[in-house]
Amino acid sequence: MYCTQHITSDILFVGASDRKLARFENVFPIPRGVSYNSYLILDEKTVLLDTVDQAVRERFFENLAAGLQGRPLDYVVVNHMEPDHAATLMDVLRDYPEAKVVGNAKTVSMIGQFFDGDISGRAVTVKEGDTLTTGRHTFTFLMAPMVHWPEVMVTYDAAEKVLFSADAFGTFGAFSGNLFADQVNFERDWLDDARRYYANIVGKYGTQVQTLLKKTAGLDIAYLCPLHGPIWRENIGWFVDKYQTWSSYAPEEQAVAIFCGSVYGHTENAAEIVANRLAEKGIKEISLHDVSGTDVSVLVSEAFRCSHLVLASSTYNGGIFTPMENFLTDLKAHNFQNRTVAVIDNGSWAATAGKQMRELVGTMKNMTVLENSVSLKSSVKEAQRTELEALADALAAELLG
Ligand code: FEO
Repeated sequence: MYCTQHITSDILFVGASDRKLARFENVFPIPRGVSYNSYLILDEKTVLLDTVDQAVRERFFENLAAGLQGRPLDYVVVNHMEPDHAATLMDVLRDYPEAKVVGNAKTVSMIGQFFDGDISGRAVTVKEGDTLTTGRHTFTFLMAPMVHWPEVMVTYDAAEKVLFSADAFGTFGAFSGNLFADQVNFERDWLDDARRYYANIVGKYGTQVQTLLKKTAGLDIAYLCPLHGPIWRENIGWFVDKYQTWSSYAPEEQAVAIFCGSVYGHTENAAEIVANRLAEKGIKEISLHDVSGTDVSVLVSEAFRCSHLVLASSTYNGGIFTPMENFLTDLKAHNFQNRTVAVIDNGSWAATAGKQMRELVGTMKNMTVLENSVSLKSSVKEAQRTELEALADALAAELLG
């Protein structure tokens, strides 16, 4: 049975949530599920903005039919061709034969890559600044390449001041009825997933996100409608500021995150000694993560949040402990930059992880590695406790200073 909600009198939410999928993109754990947002505009002409993943197709097609109430569908705007939004596109075109497909040249090309069948006679190809008027509404198309794929565009509706922002401003998490960010406790219940979504899905493309933020800065936006997660109609600037911070690779908080990769617990012991000393020095809200037991998407997200990182790793196969190496490689892949890092390593006969972590961090932009570093030989001894405390003191001085 259909399950829709009005965003405005003309705009209907016809998307749906998936609470069964274990891993988004078959990579990122989503214990809170995910929503695939799709919007139907009921004007003199009808317009669908993006479709949904196959997983929620049944609800989506019921929602679409209920929203149209027997009217034809005139246009489908494809802001993003990734299958979590476009997998059901051809089924929509089959069920609604009058519908034209609105996208840019790359979109049209990708439709051909993903699907069989010729849509050239139904394609309306748009470029930067082109508009589509459907009666009361005029939609303007703005290109947003690499936020998160090359064909991505966003659509602005001047009539109701709505920005349909594609993947930008999205978040993991299924809906619990409340579609609007002002109806939930976003900072408490959604921000961590929003940051994890940003850092891992879009984080590599900070420059392109900055370009989009500049391009949309002059628009009068009353509603911000992403393709995943809550819709914004209040306090939009607060979330835009988060995007400004994340996309400029600036730390969101002056805070420390400690990441430890420990085989038998001795390296973890060193990490805890640093954490305790930091606490004694007055540092609050320290986060400490075992890289073996924490999904790397959470580690990347925490690194985006914090200004200072401690990397404590065992040496393994003559290199960095595998989960730590995977984490650092992932950070580099996401273009991570502008942080201060402290390094601790351990090796019972040849501790090389520290040198290799410093080298890997050195390949990232504008990273400062603290001079204080500690190298353990198996377990922590009194002399090394002193070194770990000195490292913590240097970090605390930076954080408090
Ligand atoms: Fe939600 Fe890039 O797809």
